[in-house]
Amino acid sequence: MTAEEYYKLKVRPIYRSYPAYVKGREPAGYIESLKQREPEIIFDPSKFHTEEDWIAAGKLVFECETGFRPAPASGPSAEGLRFPASSEGVLPFLVEGYRYIVRKRGGLEVGGGSCAGCHTRVMSDGSLIEGAQGILYPPVSAAALSAIRDSTPEALQGRRHSSGRTTVPPGS
Ligand code: HEC
Repeated sequence: MTAEEYYKLKVRPIYRSYPAYVKGREPAGYIESLKQREPEIIFDPSKFHTEEDWIAAGKLVFECETGFRPAPASGPSAEGLRFPASSEGVLPFLVEGYRYIVRKRGGLEVGGGSCAGCHTRVMSDGSLIEGAQGILYPPVSAAALSAIRDSTPEALQGRRHSSGRTTVPPGS
């Protein structure tokens, strides 16, 4: 990509996101209330003045999802979660799909693809360190790795489509 192409890219807006809950633990009327919300762009450089503001802004970028899909009717059930929900039933935000995003009023979405999704380390006491090597997913087995290496570009494309993720160009 040339510098000219690079500087012509649209800036991706970052919308406010909201916690998602384990199935059945949402406060009453939660999903409906989110569907009434207007989209809100939370990355706004005109509001960043101090060094702390910019550090906080970096965190927003690090955590923002880059691919979106319609939110499922409810969160996953508590059994079998790889990372436990909080005592209030809030899902760990760093896992794909575990946060609601409002990019359009009424159209609740979940997403994936944030830096945080791969670069957050869950410590043994359950605390999170953002920016470290992540351990979200178990290592791919040698057999699975060679199957990926041996697949055709078409097969890889197919896997991407069947994962249900659509990467949305910035600004759309
Ligand atoms: C799909 C998972 C994934 C996502 C999303 C991701 N990374 Fe990475 N990142 C990796 C992996 C895996 C490596 C290690 C690559 C290697 O060593 O070859 C890596 C390496 C890095 C490194 C180099 C670290 C080092 O020690 O050399 C940096 C810096 C980094 N990523 C930053 C980011 C940022 C910033 C984002 C978001 C814009 C991001 N990554 C998104 C998986 C991801």
